[in-house]
This record gives sequence, C-alpha cells and structure tokens, in this order.
Amino acid sequence: MIEVNTGTDPLLKRAFSLFRITGKDLQILYRVRGKGTAILKNMKEGAYLDMLGPLGSFYPLPPEDQIPLIIAGGIGIASVFSLAERLAGRAIVFYGARKKYDLLMFKEIEACAHELVVSTDDGSAGRKGTVAEAVEAFLRSHASLIASCAIYACGPYPLLKTLAQMTQEYRIRTYVSMEEHMACGIGACLGCVVKTRDGYKRVCKEGPVMSATEILW
Ligand SMILES: Cc1cc2nc3c(=O)[nH]c(=O)nc-3n(C[C@H](O)[C@H](O)[C@H](O)COP(=O)(O)OP(=O)(O)OC[C@H]3O[C@@H](n4cnc5c(N)ncnc54)[C@H](O)[C@@H]3O)c2cc1C
Ligand code: FES
Repeated sequence: MIEVNTGTDPLLKRAFSLFRITGKDLQILYRVRGKGTAILKNMKEGAYLDMLGPLGSFYPLPPEDQIPLIIAGGIGIASVFSLAERLAGRAIVFYGARKKYDLLMFKEIEACAHELVVSTDDGSAGRKGTVAEAVEAFLRSHASLIASCAIYACGPYPLLKTLAQMTQEYRIRTYVSMEEHMACGIGACLGCVVKTRDGYKRVCKEGPVMSATEILW
C-alpha cells in the first residue's frame, strides 16, 4: 500500500503488487489509472514514499513435478512476473493485452519463461483473441498434460472468472490474485471483501491470492 501524496487528496494509500525485488531495490510496475497513479508518474527521482507492506498472501510455489501455467491479463503481469522469474524457465506463460503497445517487460518475461504465448485483442502481437482463449486452446491440445498443470493468474475480473470456470471443468488447481478497491489494506475496514464458500474474505488479508474454486464468482 503506497501513499502517493503527503496531503489529503487522495487520502487513501494505493495497492500495488511487489513486481520485482533485485538486490536492495523493490520495484513496482503500474499503469496510470486515475489521480493517485498520475501523481506517482510525476514524482521526481529520489522522492520519498510512505508504504505499508508486504501485505496479504503470495502464490504458493508449485511442486517440482507440476507444470506451472502463469496467466497475465494486462497489468496483471506485475503480480505474476516475480513468480515466473523465480521459476526460472519452468513456467509456460500466457500473456494477453489489448494491443502490442500494452505488452510490458516482454523481453524479460520471454527470458524467464519455458514458453511464452502472447495474445492481443486486436492481433497486433501474437495470437488474436483473449488470453483465456489462448489458455483454452493450449489445454485442448495438451490433454495428457492437464493433470500435471497448476494455474497462477492475475488480470481483470472477467478473465479470472472465465479461468475459474474453465479450470473447474478441467480440474486444474488454480490460484488467482484478486483485485478489489482497497481502503485500509490491513484487514480492518472490510472494504475489499469477496464472497467465498467460507463466507466473506478480505482480499487484503486472506488474499489477494486465493484458490479459484474457493470464490463465489
Ligand atoms: C492487490 C492489488 C494489487 C494491485 N497491483 C497493481 C500493480 O502492480 N500495478 C498497477 O498498475 N495496479 C495495481 N493494482 C490496481 C491499483 O491499486 C489501482 O490502479 C490504483 O489504486 C488506482 O489508483 P488511482 O488513484 O490512480 O485511481 P483512482 O482515481 O482511485 O481510480 C481510477 C479508476 O480506476 C478504478 N480503480 C481504482 N482502483 C481499483 C481497483 N483496485 N480495482 C478496480 N478498479 C479500480 C476506479 O474505480 C476508477 O474508475 C492493484 C490492486 C490491488 C487490489
Ligand atoms: S482494505 Fe480494509 S479490510 Fe481490506
């Protein structure tokens, strides 16, 4: 949770994934969405930021015999990138965006993936269509591997929901990183809850990474 302003506008800290940790640097990767991220973009190098973290849950590491399928929709790449990096050449990464221009950290992802499947909505890079369609095509053509796969995904809600439905059908263990509006970020305000089979859960505390089958979409 990063405080983007020392004043009162915006008042609340903004949530970001730990994109990458290199040596003593902690990096975030963000897309300018509104006021807070616009302030971040205009900050001068060397400026100080107040932040709270790390918070919430992490992707569990897959056992050695599992084939990790990492799925990123748009800026969701910020959440799964360090997992792909840590799995050094083991993961099959599906990375989708609206257009070629929106594909960030492309070379770095390519370098740490076992295989990279790119898709764009307009077909300007990789396969034309959604990343969910790319995943489904892969699963259909690799039926013998399905039992060994585990999915790790971050992206817009409709993508995660589609993956949850699809993976239930294929019976694949699937972890999704949920995105909800955050206020306190520490489990106190209940502003970020999602409905699950065990009642409401806080995305900032019990999440953001949750099992897809646990969530009532
Ligand atoms: C766990 C978590 C991890 C995240 N990681 C990243 C990251 O690594 N990189 C990144 O770019 N973004 C990430 N986000 C999203 C990021 O928090 C928002 O983009 C940011 O708070 C927007 O702030 P703002 O002041 O610029 O926009 P605002 O002015 O607050 O809002 C602009 C628009 O974006 C919508 N919006 C704002 N926050 C969210 C949200 N959390 N979910 C859905 N819609 C929202 C608002 O409804 C509004 O329409 C993450 C969010 C969560 C919950
Ligand atoms: S943001 Fe307050 S409980 Fe999650």
